Amino acid sequence: MPGTEEVERKVDWDRSHYCGDLRREQVGHEVTLMGWVHRRRDHGGLIFIDLRDRTGLAQVVFDSSSDPELHGSARPLRNEFVIAVRGRVVERPEGAQNPALGSGAVEVRADQMQILNESRVLPFSLEEEGSEASESLRLKYRYLDLRRPVLQRNLLVRHQVCRVVRQFLDQHGFIEVETPFLTKSTPEGARDYLVPSRVNPGKFYALPQSPQLFKQLLMVAGFDRYYQIVKCFRDEDLRADRQPEFTQIDIEMSFLTREILFDLMEGMVAAIFQAVKGVELALPFPRLRYDEAMARYGSDKPDLRFPLELVEVSDIFKASSFSPFRACLENGGEVRALALPGLGNLSRRELDLMAEQVKGWGAAGLVWLKVGESGVQSSIGKHLSAGEAEPLQARMKAKSSDLLLLVADQGRIAATVLGRLRLEGAQRLGLMQEEKTATAWITDFPLLELDEELGRYVAMHHPFTSPVPEDIPLFQTDPGKIRAQAYDLVLNGQEIGGGSIRIHQREVQKLMFSALGLSMEEAEAKFGFLLEALEFGTPPHGGIAFGMDRLVALLVGAKSIRDVIAFPKTQKAVCLLSDAPSDVDERQLRELHIRVI
Ligand code: AMO
Repeated sequence: MPGTEEVERKVDWDRSHYCGDLRREQVGHEVTLMGWVHRRRDHGGLIFIDLRDRTGLAQVVFDSSSDPELHGSARPLRNEFVIAVRGRVVERPEGAQNPALGSGAVEVRADQMQILNESRVLPFSLEEEGSEASESLRLKYRYLDLRRPVLQRNLLVRHQVCRVVRQFLDQHGFIEVETPFLTKSTPEGARDYLVPSRVNPGKFYALPQSPQLFKQLLMVAGFDRYYQIVKCFRDEDLRADRQPEFTQIDIEMSFLTREILFDLMEGMVAAIFQAVKGVELALPFPRLRYDEAMARYGSDKPDLRFPLELVEVSDIFKASSFSPFRACLENGGEVRALALPGLGNLSRRELDLMAEQVKGWGAAGLVWLKVGESGVQSSIGKHLSAGEAEPLQARMKAKSSDLLLLVADQGRIAATVLGRLRLEGAQRLGLMQEEKTATAWITDFPLLELDEELGRYVAMHHPFTSPVPEDIPLFQTDPGKIRAQAYDLVLNGQEIGGGSIRIHQREVQKLMFSALGLSMEEAEAKFGFLLEALEFGTPPHGGIAFGMDRLVALLVGAKSIRDVIAFPKTQKAVCLLSDAPSDVDERQLRELHIRVI
């Protein structure tokens, strides 16, 4: 065929080095590099190319005085052209060295060059950081955005984490087993993604929200220690730390105690931090009971990089002349306070905005006090008596120029609202240092929580979580008080993992289903296979799953887990690159026995 040789550019050279790896040791060597033209500077007789591959940049020089023809062939090179270059490594002249670049002490004097492919002008520069609008453009051309060193590094760290996890778990006797994606609904609290079955008209698979039931069945099967790095699918409202498909490091063990699991998992997380960041995490990780975490930090995933704590001050306001406080206390509510050191200089406007925000979060209101040299100034003026202000300051250890924030509401609301203000305050005070890592196990979660909308209890973790054995009688009397053998691992205020000791006795599992308002028939229809398995010698077992995306985002300091996923979706669960989800043709729908309304 005419012209085939011209169109089909073959690489018949072997690459000898990655660009970013060139060092003084290679001076005098002939090297062959391949990569993308990152930048081109034409200085007349000399053309400089920064050649890029996944390891970084190398400077290549085309010199017209030594080879005018080769120099001429470098003229048409443009950004993102793919080329192969052969040449000799030389030390850069004094003053031309670039210490910011790994290969910055040397350059390659080109002898030969092949253009392997050309490139259109990119729709965005690889160097500028994006605004919201340009983020959608970047997601559409994700394969170009992924050329940026930050994203390359993020995915490399992700790979490193997988490798450490696999190695660690292998050393500790865990076996990697795959579990099905086309399966039945697993109750992790989100909506399911459904997949219609062509061969079973009107029937659907659910994509797993986690491998929860299968990993338990692997314990029944005697695998003893299982793990899987696995995709999970949840149709839920998306945020910076949530994707509709995300990855778990999923783990299950038989014959375990919580202590065995904590010890192993701390070892694994420490190995990851050591390998990726060279950071030695302090072991064992601190532990906090759920109720303690809520009371002191207003969150079940407290950021412990800084010490600010909430304090209950209801007793001080028992006889308050401020009627919202009195009414709240009479209705079984609480008054809680938070001291923000040095923030007594916030303006009236900033405090009003904060109060508005607090209402948006569902609390009745916010009361503030500024502590000054000559006394306190407060948003409730004369309603704050000296008999209240003094013990309050003493309890909060407030000093001059501190800001005190008070919220009166039902305990949980007051705590969570102040918990959010605690985080905002820490941000303003610059207390959230990126280089710090604060870990904590949160333990003793309630087993059940009342869902006001549904008017019944729902499982706080999932329905297979074991109650604390001595709380089992409470199923009959006060299910809301049952404690679960559940735990979360929190890192810098983010839940990166959660798990539990499971129910391994059929009778207890039945009690749990009935507390969740499931009739025996419904339970059989949904989880009959699990209930049946529990009759065949199920060992005591338990496990945990880590959010891999969150863990990696934390390790690399990414704001969103999108930055550590090769091909993520938007907040609206759309893949801008492939345009999924999309329309399908009529025939496909007919085959699936589906009609779109
Ligand atoms: P859980 O639902 O707590 O537990 O999930 C475990 C961890 O997965 C991460 N995670 C997510 N990450 C990104 N996007 C999401 N939409 C998302 N949802 C959860 C979190 C969370 O801590 N089967 C149980 C585990 C067990 O009991 O062993 C489970 O899935 O970091």
